[in-house]
Amino acid sequence: MMFKKNENLKKGYIDEIIDPSIDIKSEIERMRKEKNVIILAHYYQTGDIQDIADFVGDSLALSRQAAKANADIILFAGVHFMAETAKLLAPGKKVLIPDLNAGCSLADSCPADEFEKFVNDNKGHTVITYVNSTAEIKALTDIVCTSSNAFKIVESLPEDEKIIFAPDRNLGNYIKSKVKRDMLIWNGACHVHEAFSLEAIVKLKKENSSAKIIVHPECELPVRIVADFIGSTGQLLAYVKKDNADIYIVGTESGIIHQMKKECPDKSFIPAPPTDSTCGCNDCNFMKLITLEKIYKTIKYEAPEVIMDESIMERAARPIIRMLEISDRLGI
Ligand code: 13P
Repeated sequence: MMFKKNENLKKGYIDEIIDPSIDIKSEIERMRKEKNVIILAHYYQTGDIQDIADFVGDSLALSRQAAKANADIILFAGVHFMAETAKLLAPGKKVLIPDLNAGCSLADSCPADEFEKFVNDNKGHTVITYVNSTAEIKALTDIVCTSSNAFKIVESLPEDEKIIFAPDRNLGNYIKSKVKRDMLIWNGACHVHEAFSLEAIVKLKKENSSAKIIVHPECELPVRIVADFIGSTGQLLAYVKKDNADIYIVGTESGIIHQMKKECPDKSFIPAPPTDSTCGCNDCNFMKLITLEKIYKTIKYEAPEVIMDESIMERAARPIIRMLEISDRLGI
């Protein structure tokens, strides 16, 4: 049967029922060897996907992997801006994402036309943009950052340098509170990290007095205030590995707990509860659109592919490459 690419991709992913007799994991394994595919997965992916990936990491580590990938095809198990970043760093490679609907509420909170006006209205500012943004926003940016290096990148700039920081207001305000720089902060946020309930976290802490509260800097100020440690997903993982507590309340998307349990099987990890206890909103609905089944179909048909506007690619890649250069220089 001929595969009609466009028809099957109408929904943003390959819409085809998989033969139930197929062993999806071994087929993925076979096809990725045959086609020289590398699978990169973010810590927010489900455990089954993390377990079959060639590399699991945070946004910074995944960017580095994409830049040096020795493969013909990169399959990105994560959200759209991450796959786009991989394409910008590996423009000669085919980059696949299993579901084009895997967006990001934070990236959506910064529309390119409004941001361009904001930048033009505030000339003379260095534009630092969090990687959770579209390529159009990156094309208006001087330096990209991730949550692993944002603080050090801002701190590396001269004290009198004026900065625009976008799009995450919580990460921006967290850095601003630590570095005393003139920073104009875009008013964007991640729906997962703003969903955590301070009251429920404090209650959990009372019930588990030896627990440490560890959170991502995209969380709101009251949640950051009660935290014992604040860091990117990679930094949270490194922290629980070296710290001596035996129980942690984890204030970020729950996918990271899979790696924490793998690395520290004797410790306990409690997902920080959201305000609405019925919503499951500490799971990112976009991240969880990626499934093993979609990965199988994506490798099989080499679609959906991340296709970007050539005119934007060079301008959007420049600030990401600058981020990697600064991070290497600073030893991050
Ligand atoms: P890191 O990968 O830098 O931890 O950030 C994850 C993220 O996208 C939070 O929304």
